[in-house]
Amino acid sequence: MKNIRLPSGETVPALGIGTWYLGDNARLRADELATIRFALDSGIRLIDTAEMYGEGAAEELVGEAVAGRRSDAFIVSKVYPHNASRRGAIVACERSLKRLGTDHLDLYLLHWRGNIPFEETLEAFTRLQADGKIRHFGVSNLDPDDMQEWYATAGGEACATNQVLYNLGRRGIELDLLPWLREHRIPLMAYSPIEQARLLHTPQLQAFSRNHGVSPVHAALGWVLANDDVIAIPRTGKIEHLRDFLHAAENPLSQEQLADLESLFPKPQRPIPLQML
Ligand SMILES: NC(=O)c1ccc[n+]([C@@H]2O[C@H](COP(=O)([O-])OP(=O)(O)OC[C@H]3O[C@@H](n4cnc5c(N)ncnc54)[C@H](OP(=O)(O)O)[C@@H]3O)[C@@H](O)[C@H]2O)c1
Repeated sequence: MKNIRLPSGETVPALGIGTWYLGDNARLRADELATIRFALDSGIRLIDTAEMYGEGAAEELVGEAVAGRRSDAFIVSKVYPHNASRRGAIVACERSLKRLGTDHLDLYLLHWRGNIPFEETLEAFTRLQADGKIRHFGVSNLDPDDMQEWYATAGGEACATNQVLYNLGRRGIELDLLPWLREHRIPLMAYSPIEQARLLHTPQLQAFSRNHGVSPVHAALGWVLANDDVIAIPRTGKIEHLRDFLHAAENPLSQEQLADLESLFPKPQRPIPLQML
């Protein structure tokens, strides 16, 4: 599987997994746990979660999945904007660590921009890093203006990623944010890479799938994974769907297939405000 280099020089596999809505339903828990463990067994190391997901339920599920094998995982969590103050981010991080049953996060992100100045969040992140509670930090849902402001704030240059909505139907960032990140050698983390499964049912992907003999999920994920500086974090609570993700990561699309997808889902002509899900 392809690896993506973080600004620190460390690499992570380009395919990670998301956990939004996982841990919410007790009846699905055993399957979700088995899916995360199967992901780790298959070399998917990066697990994305957040204090917001199920108000801690997703972090608890991840904690159970990585128990006894913490070093197999690269855990990403996120702080709510209203908790991202000088003191609040430290307390929120401690709560996340407890739910995850670990003494450190591999990556801690500001979930989206709120009212607390970046200076405060960065002070907290820098302190958490110095104390060994987080290894790296970064941001999520920052548009180009916010990204530049973060980067210009003391400590902000150490940004490991910007996690944003990116998939075949959401290509606006290619006109502004993605080139900026590339210029600054910051990898993108693409969330909702299959648009919460809605992309899979579009007439374009259905037609592509028939013409090329490639499943819609392989096409959608393969297109995101064709980049050398993009990490994709699709989510599933089912092992059979996780196998589809692995298949996509292990079988890159051809140049011809990628070109076909580009014409079925063209890049917008003009920049559009960053979208969020
Ligand atoms: N930073 C942010 O603001 C932000 C926002 C959104 C998401 N995220 C992160 O990104 C992760 C992924 O995004 P997402 O959860 O919004 O959506 P997604 O990964 O685009 O899609 C997930 C949905 O697709 C379904 N699915 C997966 N594989 C499938 C397959 N082979 N066939 C049919 N359906 C399939 C899943 O259901 P099954 O469980 O039934 O497979 C689930 O309902 C999140 O879990 C979260 O960690 C971050």
